[in-house]
Amino acid sequence: MMVAVVHAMGDGSAMETDPAAPKAAPAAGAPLPAAPSAAAEAARPTLLLTGVRAALGPLRRDLIGTYQRWLTDVEVLRGLGQRTVITVDAEQAWYDNAAKAESAAHFTVYDADDLAPVGTCSLFGIDHANATATFGIFIAERRGTGIGTDATRLTLDWAFTMLGLHNVMLEVFSWNAAAIRAYARAGFKEVGRRRGSVVCLGRRFDDVIMDAVAPEFTGSVLARLVPDGGAPR
Ligand SMILES: CC(C)(COP(=O)(O)OP(=O)(O)OC[C@H]1O[C@@H](n2cnc3c(N)ncnc32)[C@H](O)[C@@H]1OP(=O)(O)O)[C@@H](O)C(=O)NCCC(=O)NCCS
Repeated sequence: MMVAVVHAMGDGSAMETDPAAPKAAPAAGAPLPAAPSAAAEAARPTLLLTGVRAALGPLRRDLIGTYQRWLTDVEVLRGLGQRTVITVDAEQAWYDNAAKAESAAHFTVYDADDLAPVGTCSLFGIDHANATATFGIFIAERRGTGIGTDATRLTLDWAFTMLGLHNVMLEVFSWNAAAIRAYARAGFKEVGRRRGSVVCLGRRFDDVIMDAVAPEFTGSVLARLVPDGGAPR
């Protein structure tokens, strides 16, 4: 009797054409099915941009609790200069606004290797008349593995290639060497400092202002989608 495994079901069990067929274990060394299961497909997050270390997708309602947990990580709070104790209710209210905001683009950041959500990043204050925006990011998990740099680069790609912006700026505290390094590697340059304007856990620092401009941006993953022909804006 021939038993054909048709496809994997959502719960990971196999559907067979002959229900009376014995449930034989796969032969040792038999190749694993190449196609992902329906469950794996259903669990796969929606992605907009995929780089080498990071991928970006929309904000997700089902991650509101995760976003709130991330925003109670004191290292994240320190980097963002946040002192508010954020509750799930507050995060829900933020999400409800952010999900509809027209002058912002918010992203969930994933590790490109296994698509685990690890943080968020955003373009705020998008001004189409002047083609400018402000960038912000936090990575709550797997910091120091290149995800922040790549997520920053992907967000600049969205800003310049998809939105057609010209200049994206950010502010970062002068003690935050990891952030400054990640931003510089992604294409930001320091353009100024507000001296001694930030107090962080009792110590005073500069606020560093960095920007990135479209003509200097390299490494676009969206460039391959730019249609042939047409005229420059
Ligand atoms: C800042 C942040 C976004 C960076 O993301 P990340 O994924 O950790 O960063 P990456 O791993 O891509 O890059 C960090 C870089 O800084 C370097 N670095 C780390 N600590 C450093 C230090 N103390 N001094 C100098 N460089 C440092 C790393 O070696 C790496 O550079 P490399 O790729 O050339 O080796 C992330 O750490 C974070 O969210 N921190 C908490 C919140 C925060 O500070 N947000 C930013 C607010 S402006």
